Amino acid sequence: MSALALFGGNKAKRKAFPVWPYYDEKEERALKEVLESRVWWRTPGTRTLEFERAFAAFHGARHGIAVTNGTAALEVTMAGLGITSGDEVIVPEIANSRGLALIEDSAHAHASEWRGQRIGTFGVAGTFSFQASKLITAGEGGMIISNDDNFEVQARSVHDSGRMPGQWFYSHYIYGSNYRLSEWQGAILNVQLSRLDEQTKRRHQNSRLLDRLLSEIPGITPQKLDERCTRNGQYAYIFHVNNKKFAKISTERFIAAMNAEGIPNQASYPPLHELDMFRSGEYRKRLSGKQAKQKHRFLKKKFPVTQKAAWETAWIPQPALLGDEEDMHEIAAGLAKIQKNAKELV
Ligand SMILES: Cc1ncc(COP(=O)(O)O)c(C=O)c1O
Repeated sequence: MSALALFGGNKAKRKAFPVWPYYDEKEERALKEVLESRVWWRTPGTRTLEFERAFAAFHGARHGIAVTNGTAALEVTMAGLGITSGDEVIVPEIANSRGLALIEDSAHAHASEWRGQRIGTFGVAGTFSFQASKLITAGEGGMIISNDDNFEVQARSVHDSGRMPGQWFYSHYIYGSNYRLSEWQGAILNVQLSRLDEQTKRRHQNSRLLDRLLSEIPGITPQKLDERCTRNGQYAYIFHVNNKKFAKISTERFIAAMNAEGIPNQASYPPLHELDMFRSGEYRKRLSGKQAKQKHRFLKKKFPVTQKAAWETAWIPQPALLGDEEDMHEIAAGLAKIQKNAKELV
């Protein structure tokens, strides 16, 4: 019989991985407290406010504005900075040298560090997501952190329909919307945050162990960790698969074999420029003025590095990285088995 689980062999992964999202009686208590307080709304509440302060402080920022999700965090940030349709948003590398506002989309990167400094504090604002797959979660949720007092006032007002703290509830000063996070989510996230440091250390350490174990498998190249990244939040463990060492099987076939072995995985994100919305031109409906009619070069370009990153990598999602050393060895053994028996997958 084949050694591969896909063809009836024993699964490489015998022990169950930790479940995600993790919770215990602390979340239960926090939710019950919100329920019984009857203060479920953020505006008069304390939980979301407390979470804003704790999350910002955790990352070394003075301000935190909790919002409904990571997309809203980006929208509020841009509105808070006065970025509007017709303005240009570019990649971050050159922002500092040109005096432009740097926004860090840190949706996946909670607790990560670059040269010892926590993510989200390098530019004017950092944005985060608390959607279900993220490193702490309330199902949905988002956050903007900042050390810029002026920006904080603007962004906080945008997230609360243009209100200003301390003013009459029905005075709306600027153009905003309702992006407020509920007290339920604030309460859960407070508890989730209390575990983030320990969980980040575990994910980081397990990932470094996988770096060592997986680099011994022909055809597998772990994503390189830049030495300036002093702590990686590890939203996922990503590695490149050279299919020449895997009997030229497709990434889909490789993933099917991984699934059968009991090794969790998630699809890589597809290249953005290939999404239907861009191919069909539908995205132009959100543009105005000159921009709506301009030819956009990104539609014609090939982006081979993006293609490679999207279609030749496999991702192990973060909950698996909360396992123990034995789990990491089982993952490596499963991948080594697939490589050794790859010819059977052709
Ligand atoms: C890089 C990035 N930015 C923003 C978001 C949006 O976050 P949300 O799903 O909470 O709206 C995501 C979602 O995964 C993301 O990956």
